[in-house]
Amino acid sequence: MPVSPNFFSTIKPNLIGIKTYTPGKPLEELQREYGIKNAIKMASNENALGPSPKAVVAMRKHLNRVHRYPEGGCHYLRQKLSKALNVYDNQLVFGNGSDELLIFAVRTFVGAKDEVVIADPTFLIYEIATRVENGTVVRVPMKDFHYDLDAMRAKINSKTKLIFIANPDNPVGTYVSEKKLTDFLRFVPRNVVVVLDEAYYDFARIKKDYPDSLRLLKFFKNLMITRTFSKAYGLAGLRVGYAVSSPEIAASLNKVREPFNVNLLAQEAAIAALDDTSFLKKTVKTVTEGRLFLTKELTRLGLVSVDTVTNFVLFNLGKPAQPVYESLLKKGVIVRPMNSWGLSTFLRVTIGTMSDNRRFIKELKGAL
Ligand SMILES: Cc1ncc(COP(=O)(O)O)c(C=O)c1O
Repeated sequence: MPVSPNFFSTIKPNLIGIKTYTPGKPLEELQREYGIKNAIKMASNENALGPSPKAVVAMRKHLNRVHRYPEGGCHYLRQKLSKALNVYDNQLVFGNGSDELLIFAVRTFVGAKDEVVIADPTFLIYEIATRVENGTVVRVPMKDFHYDLDAMRAKINSKTKLIFIANPDNPVGTYVSEKKLTDFLRFVPRNVVVVLDEAYYDFARIKKDYPDSLRLLKFFKNLMITRTFSKAYGLAGLRVGYAVSSPEIAASLNKVREPFNVNLLAQEAAIAALDDTSFLKKTVKTVTEGRLFLTKELTRLGLVSVDTVTNFVLFNLGKPAQPVYESLLKKGVIVRPMNSWGLSTFLRVTIGTMSDNRRFIKELKGAL
């Protein structure tokens, strides 16, 4: 339908240049477009083993309650998680995915012309959310695919309201150590909020020098940690994540939260998933083994991959990646092209089951 020219004068000017977030291609869409039956999706860092079985049982049990609104404050999930993490219940805020909490952070702390410091490349939502609020994004290039915290420090000024650190980062997969993070936090003024996005926490925590961020909360009241049930617990489709912070930050985030932002089934599934330790262990094992296999095989193909602690691997083809991405699509393997991040010779592949990983390597060989 043609759009009336008046519409463009109505839209907020800061929205005009924003590129809409493009997610990884859905399986169903590929199967429809290419007439393929057994396609595999290795594009959105989801859990290749499926959802936590305990979460599925819990959802079935609560299906007939969905005519009711959910608990607005996620009461039972809050109780369970505050015990599990050993934090006070007023330190937790829940979101429709951790995405929503990142957006809440910007909505809460950033106004027009305020500055938000982010790495480049990093998770795209930080920039989109900032520009929606008419804030200014200050991008700091990574150094050899690692955060350049000294350069980020140098960008802090009186307009800085928020700093995002994805730890580990998406799309690169590397992490900031506890020592480097603590040194950085010591420098950051207390009126600047640091968001530590730990979406891949369950995979990265096996590293000895990965930060114990919950402990750091005791020293840094301006710290906000976000985590998710989407990755290690396999609940991406339900959309549930949480933030842990000082009670003051949590109370402020709650002011911009919609009353029933986490749905009833998501709350029940998350409660059950927290008890599914065997699923969590199996997931971490699958990812760890898959990571070893994929990085070895990529090296064998002469490709350089970035050292990752996540459930995905970023690698360089050394030539435009789009044709390789498209050849893989035709073979039913969906990976993530990196054009949105300006990394046009790179692809990102989510670690799958061993059979997914083998199929990806076989089709990649063909595509190269
Ligand atoms: C770094 C990072 N943060 C946050 C998210 C959002 O996850 P969710 O909204 O599913 O919790 C993702 C998802 O891919 C991510 O990679």
